[in-house]
Amino acid sequence: MLTVRPRGTNDILPGEAERWQFVERTVQALCTAWHYREIRTPVFEHTELFLRGVGEVTDIVEKEMYTFEDKGQRSLTLRPEGTAPAARAYLENKLYAEPQPIKLYYIGAMFRYDRPQAGRFRQFHQFGVEVFGAKEPEADAEVIALAMEFYRILGISGLELHINTVGCPECRHAIRQSLKEYLTPRKGLLCPACRSRAERNPLRVLDCKETACADLVGDAPTPLDNACDECRRHFEGVLRYLDVAGLPYIINPRLVRGLDYYTRTAFEILASGVGAQSAVGGGGRYDGLVEVCGGPPTPGVGFALGLERTLLLLKEQRPEAGAASRLEVFVATAGETKETAMQILFRLRRLGIVSDADLTGRSLKAQMKYAGKLKARVVVIVGDEELARGAVTVRRMDTGQQEEVPLDDLAEVLKALLK
Ligand code: HAM
Repeated sequence: MLTVRPRGTNDILPGEAERWQFVERTVQALCTAWHYREIRTPVFEHTELFLRGVGEVTDIVEKEMYTFEDKGQRSLTLRPEGTAPAARAYLENKLYAEPQPIKLYYIGAMFRYDRPQAGRFRQFHQFGVEVFGAKEPEADAEVIALAMEFYRILGISGLELHINTVGCPECRHAIRQSLKEYLTPRKGLLCPACRSRAERNPLRVLDCKETACADLVGDAPTPLDNACDECRRHFEGVLRYLDVAGLPYIINPRLVRGLDYYTRTAFEILASGVGAQSAVGGGGRYDGLVEVCGGPPTPGVGFALGLERTLLLLKEQRPEAGAASRLEVFVATAGETKETAMQILFRLRRLGIVSDADLTGRSLKAQMKYAGKLKARVVVIVGDEELARGAVTVRRMDTGQQEEVPLDDLAEVLKALLK
């Protein structure tokens, strides 16, 4: 056990970590340009927040939460998602008192106790954005456009944007009722999970992956069939802005989401080639969430993208992206010159040159071999004879050429060599 990580978790090792940094830098630059500000919320929250925020009749709350009692007998839960925490933070920190909308983004670990498989983990990471205080369809279109822009900048292609409306409290009753009326006489044909969903959360049946259910809902009434005029107008508005932005989409009348807070817009970004789990991201509008958390009625819209799935696509489509930076200079020393070598090393690092030296007492010959294994581009050899002349030897590892360089010129010579 001591040498095995918990099921469904990952070690992100050197090599892979640079790719993560690349994606994180992309998120930061993109969100800064789109004027979204970062928020960092705790990794755990009061369990109640997710029970109420995400909804009690959802897979996340019923089956997937890492819930524990702390030593003060409080029930806490490792966050399974970032939207309810963002709504909580918006309220608790009175962000509603600032000019609206508030546009937030986050990158962080989420936790769901689900059956691990390709692209599905128990600890995974999301990049998400949440916009509070904007009810217009422009806001929906903006967050969708931001998600798609992220993938465009990363150079990931082959994604499909699926979009739907799931109605609002005004029309939700009609939507559920018509679906129930369709499903009840056909209940026997549904999968066991959907038999109970048909009563408690009939919308979820629409997106069940079991063949029996998928076949059955082909003719079922969809939310759009029973949506109120306001919801229809909103949906049309979102689609119009997507058209203006030149973003292709697929209207998927059976798209519903696994979290209860959604109103009106729901969308998913799908890819092939990330295992059975084809959704790289999803989101939508959640106009009732802040109120459920105890605040004033506040519209909200956002998305979260799975970073593990994004990285799978990136690795597949752009294997060169986010490559580790190469060791530029290795400083080798013949022993008596160790202190000077160390000073040179520190100076080079301060100049931003990726530099390293031996830390284990290798001989000069072994240091050269080691520098070769590290694939250093240049080795600076600090020998006593040259040092007495105020110089060092600079060796290019690709050609084997070497020259003596006065210490005062070293930085310039290296910069020119490394260009
Ligand atoms: P979600 O659809 O549950 O939405 O998750 C968003 C994305 O996180 C998924 O599309 C997937 O890429 C990734 N993801 C989810 N579960 C796992 C897992 N077990 N392993 C790996 N990746 C996973 C939400 O979380 C909402 N909070 C999104 C949102 C934000 N809606 C509005 N604002």
